Amino acid sequence: MTKKEIIFYLSGGNDRELFERSSAIRYSMLGRKVYLRGLIELSNICSCDCLYCGIRQSNSNVKRYLLSKQEVLQSARYAYDNGWGSLVIQSGELCSDYFTTLIEELVQEIKTLSGGELAITLSCGEQSKDTYRRWLEAGADRYLLRIESSTQELFERIHPQNISYTKRLNTLQSLIDCGFQTGSGVMIGLPLQTIDNLADDMLFLANCGIVMCGMGPYIEHCETPLFKYNSEFSHSQRVQLTLRCIAILRILRPKINIASSTALGTLSKQARHQAMEVGANVIMPNITPEDIRANYSLYQGKISDLDLNSFDIEYFNQGIPLEVTSK
Ligand code: 5AD
Repeated sequence: MTKKEIIFYLSGGNDRELFERSSAIRYSMLGRKVYLRGLIELSNICSCDCLYCGIRQSNSNVKRYLLSKQEVLQSARYAYDNGWGSLVIQSGELCSDYFTTLIEELVQEIKTLSGGELAITLSCGEQSKDTYRRWLEAGADRYLLRIESSTQELFERIHPQNISYTKRLNTLQSLIDCGFQTGSGVMIGLPLQTIDNLADDMLFLANCGIVMCGMGPYIEHCETPLFKYNSEFSHSQRVQLTLRCIAILRILRPKINIASSTALGTLSKQARHQAMEVGANVIMPNITPEDIRANYSLYQGKISDLDLNSFDIEYFNQGIPLEVTSK
């Protein structure tokens, strides 16, 4: 697909054709399968001040937490006992020795409790090569680090000065070089973001060497500096754009793993299902201990239970040509 074609589809030029093309690829390459990855939100303590993020360091309204090892292992056991193949440990960005060692030990212990069967994805921000190597050696399999926007100017507008676009690109590359199955992604509908920027994002994600992608609509959080800037796109337009982005990436990269994000589910439950039909093949149900979840508030209204056991499974089993699989 050329950039021109991508822009045509992103602009709503022919949704029907786009979604037919992407679903055909989805079903021929990946069948009906939807993979579950249990999401554990380890901590909302963060050293970064990203302008869009509700748990940014400067937001003093956030009640900060760090799960105990035991809580993480309990969640991991839940995933394992239910036959899920994979876990994601996500956290605010911390670089202390304590944190590095904690992740290392958690990875080792989860591998032990699952007899090596649970795959572990980490999503703990930018770290040194050394740290990535330690986590990989401990047994982590995959790493998610979103580029957020591949347009340097926009990236710089939504991040504080100490977060560098070039460093983010290099860090993404170092994850790939290190041997992680690496994922990335972007937010869709940011203030100042244009269709042209999003077309560049799709080409970036298709060509940067990643094997997983999570992208979702930007959702305002009133306790962040970005709140006062308006997006060009309404929430429902962002939902539609996200579906188009997923479909386009599926066409560009037939085999890549694409998550149907929590942010998409927050704006529209139905869209999270549609996403699966037009190209996504991964959902990440939240298995953080329930009493803690509300504190991991990246954006307003973030759904805290993905309610997978009732609504979704029922949906998937009601003749929709998809099949939830644990592995
Ligand atoms: N809206 C949507 N997504 C957000 N994230 C952080 N803040 C927001 C927001 N306001 C996403 C970022 C980050 C991921 C963990 O959550 O893309 O990488």
